Amino acid sequence: MISVLVANPKGGCGKTTIATHLAAAFANGGLRTALADTDRQRSCLGWLKARPETAAPIVGLDWVKAMKKPPEGIARLVIDSAGSTRIRQVRDMVRQADVIVVPVLPSAFDLTSTEHFLAKLRELKPIRRNRKPFALVRNRVRQGSRAAARLDAFIEDTNARDVGWLSDRTIYNEVAWQGLSIFDLRNRQAADMQRDWVPLIRYIENADGEALLN
Ligand SMILES: Nc1ncnc2c1ncn2[C@@H]1O[C@H](COP(=O)(O)OP(=O)(O)OP(=O)(O)O)[C@@H](O)[C@H]1O
Ligand SMILES: [Mg+2]
Repeated sequence: MISVLVANPKGGCGKTTIATHLAAAFANGGLRTALADTDRQRSCLGWLKARPETAAPIVGLDWVKAMKKPPEGIARLVIDSAGSTRIRQVRDMVRQADVIVVPVLPSAFDLTSTEHFLAKLRELKPIRRNRKPFALVRNRVRQGSRAAARLDAFIEDTNARDVGWLSDRTIYNEVAWQGLSIFDLRNRQAADMQRDWVPLIRYIENADGEALLN
């Protein structure tokens, strides 16, 4: 099993969007996938409730009170964390994860708080000792914008692993209402957008991520 933690205490940076999309990408790739929700708002579990029966199945895990052992046979586990999660809780979640994904938005306030979070993350023993990989994914990027350029410079400065960027598209919000992701859609626009995810999925798989895409 590969488990992925999506974390950044900064609210609204795209943790749930990324967690639900990764889970859907894995599930559509034919992998038995679980999505663990540690957020009291239970956004992932709500998304799963809205998910049509015909969509690729994802097992929902309620980890709000405690992290539990995932059921047998799960090949991919995606863990969504809450905004304002404390570093102590992040540390416990990092223990459960093979890889950590940190979304970051191109805004001044987001960069400042992400910088702060990265400093704390780097102090955690498994990360300090280079045993747990973590990467930054730029979210809601408008290509060519000044904000995007600032975000690029920020990532270069942090020296963190960069796994590409996801563009700012209203469809992410639209599919969320239906318990779906762009990986569940079979149209040209979705196929184009899925390409944004290849570096991130490839990073997680440490192999050929394209095999999981539609
Ligand atoms: N790439 C994107 N393009 C457009 N909208 C996006 C994108 N990513 C996220 N959003 C929207 O931004 C809002 C916040 O995203 P999301 O809920 O995933 O963030 P979060 O980090 O989980 O927030 P919280 O800290 O409250 O848990 C949502 O309305 C979502 O649809
Ligand atoms: Mg969330």
